[in-house]
Amino acid sequence: MCGIFGMIGANAVANTLQALKYLEYRGYDSAGIAAKQADGIRIYKSEGRIHNLEKLLKNSVENNADSSFSGTSGAGYVESEIAIGHTRWATHGAVTTANAHPFYSPDGNFAVVHNGIIENYLALKKQFTSRGAVFTSETDSETVAYLLQNNYNGNTLQAVCATAKSLVGAFAIAVTTTYDNSLYAIKNKSPLVIGVSDVGVYLCSDIRCVSHWATKVAVTPDNTVVVVGKEGVRFYDFEGKPITVRFFTTDAAEEMEQVDGDFMLKEIFEIPEKIRLTQEGYFKNGGFGVEPERVRNISRIYLIGCGTAYNSGLQIAAVARKFLDVDVLPVIASEFIYDNYPVDGNTLAFFISQSGETADTIRAAENFNSLGGYSYAVTNTKASSLCFACKKVAYIYAGGEFAVASTKAYNCQLVTLLLLTLDVGRIRGTVSNEQYASVLRALTGIPSVIEEVLSHSYEISRIAETVKDSSAVFYIGRTTDYPTACEGSLKLKEISYIHSEAYPAGELKHGTLALMEENVTVVAITDGTLSDKMASSINEVATRGAKVISVSPQTFPNALSVTLPKVNTLLYGIVSVVPLQLLAYYVAKRLGRDVDKPRNLAKSVTVE
Ligand code: M6R
Repeated sequence: MCGIFGMIGANAVANTLQALKYLEYRGYDSAGIAAKQADGIRIYKSEGRIHNLEKLLKNSVENNADSSFSGTSGAGYVESEIAIGHTRWATHGAVTTANAHPFYSPDGNFAVVHNGIIENYLALKKQFTSRGAVFTSETDSETVAYLLQNNYNGNTLQAVCATAKSLVGAFAIAVTTTYDNSLYAIKNKSPLVIGVSDVGVYLCSDIRCVSHWATKVAVTPDNTVVVVGKEGVRFYDFEGKPITVRFFTTDAAEEMEQVDGDFMLKEIFEIPEKIRLTQEGYFKNGGFGVEPERVRNISRIYLIGCGTAYNSGLQIAAVARKFLDVDVLPVIASEFIYDNYPVDGNTLAFFISQSGETADTIRAAENFNSLGGYSYAVTNTKASSLCFACKKVAYIYAGGEFAVASTKAYNCQLVTLLLLTLDVGRIRGTVSNEQYASVLRALTGIPSVIEEVLSHSYEISRIAETVKDSSAVFYIGRTTDYPTACEGSLKLKEISYIHSEAYPAGELKHGTLALMEENVTVVAITDGTLSDKMASSINEVATRGAKVISVSPQTFPNALSVTLPKVNTLLYGIVSVVPLQLLAYYVAKRLGRDVDKPRNLAKSVTVE
């Protein structure tokens, strides 16, 4: 949902470009870089993917369009020691170069990039247009550049603080200026990590990205202005009063990998290894930190997240209801914020988020805490904003996930949440040592079971050929299979753009059956329990012309079968989702979609 990066140090443009490639998962509508030069700030921006920006940078040097520049890098484009950059996921204004960041102030003395939403931008814009200003873009972000110029009175820090005070909304903003050689940043509710190394200082939306360069990082708190200079980093509140922010050494760095094929397929094939790591993490740390005194008296557990993370909560709620004696309720984060779910000191909630930066989930956690509940982050991202919003953190061990469609993180969320809820059950005496040992034994075998499923991926690829021309695809399942249906459906729609819905199988006959006809596909998921009921649902849709694919340890007469090994029913969802992830991938490939970067989406949704 937009990524920002800024750097002071050698080869700032080349490094910013590299960072933008990493950050492209946050938005890929357009990209841009502002490079500070002796004679002013130069902005390069282009619609579409980062490689368009890279071409633009190279062409500008080759065509000598920028002969005034102080130098070119080994990579063949303009260089600078101070640069800021942006990848955009459009919120305000169409996908055009004019709406791409960075933006100049009217006098060219400031350039800004922004991640988030300035909620009062229309009022701010009006202040300037009423005085004759003509904005170059439709964005909310450009107002920041106008404010900076307007507030500048010989002191950049003062101008940045004054600007920060007039903004309402969520923002991580980086600013470069002709007035001095520092970078400035403003942070409220959108992620901003500051990094330092021997050769540079950095600011960035993503801790994994900045850790590629930085040896120490600081997570910027809300309502903070940051001044990044060669001499170091200083933090201020919006009144300009210095504040202290702790730096820590980080092991969050990830290889900035390039893959030959698609990240999504690579990430699906990593599932067995990542599940093994998640289990190892659990054993090595003696659990994920469930505190007996916290859970003995709880009366309710919420599992809260968005999209795939919500589906993992939906799945574990259905599983944990089998062995817990308290209410276990999955809730969509954006609904939790504005509804009246009961919360008191005996309420525990797991906030689930791969990125740890999803605004809806963070806001839900903040609301939940303010009502006195005990919040627990379940995330793949160390030191992400969600970790700071919750009282406890359990990390999943999925490793960097780059495809917009989440896959391996889902499986690892399921494993982590299962272990967490089993621990709650053991403390409360509803899960015996024998039950616990038996589930753990079965869980240890799950990676090999998934390896076996993956070894049949070519069969799924063949089935994809029969699904790709469907007018709609419905996914059905009952109880613990229904969340898997939801996740399979979400995967398919987001990357293939085929209309898809998930239903509890028994619910079809209450309306949705009206949509069954030729060209519709139904994917029926069952772990084998309630299979008679599923057989009836399959017959009902097949007699109305729908093509049926079953995902089950058993086969059904009217369906094309994906036959899965039999596993403990508590663990079935961890396995049965894999063929659905593969199906979505192969259908999307056959339709020629960009599977890693589907239209209209971004991996990390940092606005409400
Ligand atoms: O980073 P998060 O887990 O909080 O992200 C939540 C959703 O935005 C995410 O799972 C989204 O639904 C995926 N694109 C689904 O594949």
